[in-house]
Amino acid sequence: MKIGFIGFGKVAKNLVNLIKCDNITFLTSAQNRSKTTIENIENSEVMVLNTFKDVALNCDILISVNSPNQALNIAVKYGKYLNGIYLDLNNISPKTTFEISKYVDNLIDGAIIGKIDSSNPILYLSGKDLEKLDFLSDFLELHKISEKLGDASKLKLLRSMYTKSVSAILIESSQIAKNLDLEDEFFDSLTLTEGKDFKNRAISRINNTKNSKKRKAEELTQIIDYFEKEDLTMVKASLKKLNQ
Ligand SMILES: NC(=O)c1ccc[n+]([C@@H]2O[C@H](COP(=O)([O-])OP(=O)(O)OC[C@H]3O[C@@H](n4cnc5c(N)ncnc54)[C@H](OP(=O)(O)O)[C@@H]3O)[C@@H](O)[C@H]2O)c1
Repeated sequence: MKIGFIGFGKVAKNLVNLIKCDNITFLTSAQNRSKTTIENIENSEVMVLNTFKDVALNCDILISVNSPNQALNIAVKYGKYLNGIYLDLNNISPKTTFEISKYVDNLIDGAIIGKIDSSNPILYLSGKDLEKLDFLSDFLELHKISEKLGDASKLKLLRSMYTKSVSAILIESSQIAKNLDLEDEFFDSLTLTEGKDFKNRAISRINNTKNSKKRKAEELTQIIDYFEKEDLTMVKASLKKLNQ
C-alpha cells in the first residue's frame, strides 16, 4: 500500500514514525518546500517524487496535512488525480470539509485529538468506507464516529469549545486567587474534587493558552462563526478574555 502526504511537517513526520509496516510505502514531494520540510523528508523513510501531482496519482491513500488555510486549495489542485482515499487531517471547520467534498470523491474527515506527538495520538474519523482505514488502528487509537462527513470536524470544534472556555475561566480564577495570596489553596481545594493531577494539568493548560493566545482566539472565532445560530454566551466571553 502507498500512503502519500501533501505537507511534511510535524504531523506527517510523526505518522511515518508511528505507522511502521513492511508493506506500506510513504510518498511525498519536496516541490517548492521550505528547508525545514526538506530536512523532515530527508530524516524520514519516505519516497520523494517530483511533484505533488505524482504523489496523488500514485498513492492509495492521500493524507492532507499542511495548514487550515491551504487545505481547500490543495484539495482542489490534487484531489482530481486520486483514485483512492483522501484523508484530511487539517484543523479545518466543517464548512471547509463540505467545500473540499465538492472536489474530492473519497473524502474522509479526520481530526487529531490533542497533539500528534503525545504519547497516544487519537484520530477521530467520519465519512464513508471508514473500514478501509481499519489497518491504522494497529498504530493509533481510532474512533470511527459516523458515515457523515463533517462529524469529526464538528466534534473537534465542540471539544475545543469546552477546553478553551475552561482554560479562560482557569486563567481568570487563578489570577484572582493569586491576587488574594490564596493560589496554592485554590488549586489544593480543586484537587479534592477534580482529581490528584489537577494542579499540574491546570497549570499546563493555563501556560499553553497564554503562549498561543492568538491561535486559540482564532479557533474560538471559527467556532462562533460555525455555530452562529446556537447560544454561545460562554464561548464569546472566553474569546473576550483571550483577546484582553
Ligand atoms: N501538530 C499537531 O499536533 C496537530 C494536531 C491537530 C491538527 N493538526 C493539523 O495538521 C496540519 C499540519 O500540522 P503540522 O503541525 O504538521 O504543521 P507544520 O509542522 O507547520 O507542517 C506543515 C507542512 O505543510 C507544508 N505545506 C504548507 N503549504 C503547503 C502547500 N501549499 N503545498 C504543499 N505543502 C504545504 C509545509 O511546508 P513548508 O514548510 O514548505 O511551508 C509543511 O511541510 C495543520 O492543518 C494542523 O492544523 C496538527
